[in-house]
Amino acid sequence: MKGIILAGGTGSRLYPLTKITNKHLLPVYDKPMIYYPLQTLIDAGITEIMIVSGRGHAGHFLELLGSGTEFGVHLTYEIQEEAGGIAQALALAKDFADDEPVTVILGDNIFQDNVKNAVISFRSGAMIFLKEVPDAKRFGVAQIKGKSIISIEEKPAEPKSNLAVTGLYIYDPMVFNIIQTLAPSGRGELEITDVNNEYIRIGKMSFSTLSGYWSDAGTFESLFRASELVRNTRSGLK
Ligand code: DAU
Repeated sequence: MKGIILAGGTGSRLYPLTKITNKHLLPVYDKPMIYYPLQTLIDAGITEIMIVSGRGHAGHFLELLGSGTEFGVHLTYEIQEEAGGIAQALALAKDFADDEPVTVILGDNIFQDNVKNAVISFRSGAMIFLKEVPDAKRFGVAQIKGKSIISIEEKPAEPKSNLAVTGLYIYDPMVFNIIQTLAPSGRGELEITDVNNEYIRIGKMSFSTLSGYWSDAGTFESLFRASELVRNTRSGLK
């Protein structure tokens, strides 16, 4: 299985922190943010990894991470010219994926769980990872019926559950065909939620619920919280 870290986007919600550097290079406690999704992929046993970043500060990713040798992995880099959405960034990894399944992680998502078993046992379709949160309206929100997922709503004003769709996805190669059929959303982006809803529609979506902590780090509050979660866990406070 290959891995893809999506680290494009503008980081506008963290301005002025992101005025002269990239969001994914900001510190989360004692490491640059992108180290965390990278470690999640490494812990899942993935060693071939592509990093998709925006144009601004792209060279800094190379300087920071290099070939990946230091981490025992092989890194490849791709540029997303404009912040056209998570699905648009993923489409840039089509050749890299080379008709194989891929594990995709958002560059601002911090996970405690090890997803190695899910990665190893994945065969086809798509898989997402859900986490109960108190502020679901900030995320993609899953609606579950029995053991099935029946829909995902992107940032709903009135969430139908408290289950956030986290920024970790496993897809078969069909994902690239699905992305080609998408139209931009109201915010002008190709939405990963539209990709996931298509997998749900054709009955090929599975999900797992995370037990460890999870946080995004794309707002001041969540960035602060992510640092706190890492620090508290590291020092055994939680
Ligand atoms: O954090 C999980 C959430 O991430 C999900 O629950 C949502 O369903 C999903 O849409 C996404 O929501 P956000 O609106 O918070 O995503 P954001 O625009 O902050 O982008 C998250 C990461 O995705 C960002 O750190 C880098 C990558 N990205 C984003 C965009 C818009 C790209 O690589 N390219 C892009 O054009």
